[in-house]
Amino acid sequence: MSSIISIRNVSKTYASGHRALNNINLEIERGEIFALLGPNGAGKTTLISMICGIVNLEEGDIEVGGHDIRTAFRAARSQIGLVPQELTAEAFERVWNTVSYSRGLFGKKANPAHIEKY
Ligand SMILES: Nc1ncnc2c1ncn2[C@@H]1O[C@H](COP(=O)(O)OP(=O)(O)OP(=O)(O)O)[C@@H](O)[C@H]1O
Ligand SMILES: [Mg+2]
Repeated sequence: MSSIISIRNVSKTYASGHRALNNINLEIERGEIFALLGPNGAGKTTLISMICGIVNLEEGDIEVGGHDIRTAFRAARSQIGLVPQELTAEAFERVWNTVSYSRGLFGKKANPAHIEKY
């Protein structure tokens, strides 16, 4: 089976000098349901944010669906649906408006019929 997420020799040192990740290697297979567990401050959010391109990757390599997150970032990010820890949607917005808006974030035109289908 091929990896959907491939993490090789990834380390992260924040500008503060704090080393949050130290040489992480991880292969997550296509179709696998994977839970990343660790104590507070272990570096879970740092790693997930790097996979998604929210935190800069400076040491090591990450591929999503075979796409390098630095050289093929658009293709890599098109494979990702991130549900963040904190609510980032407007709590009082209608569901219809929220999902219409999120299409735009992926560069998709408005498509009410498609949304209605789901
Ligand atoms: N922007 C930053 N600058 C400096 N240090 C940071 C930054 N973001 C996170 N850290 C530090 O890096 C380490 C890893 O943090 P991270 O948020 O990735 O951990 P976590 O496993 O997601 O923790 P939690 O379970 O609390 O969500 C922690 O020591 C944190 O204080
Ligand atoms: Mg976290």
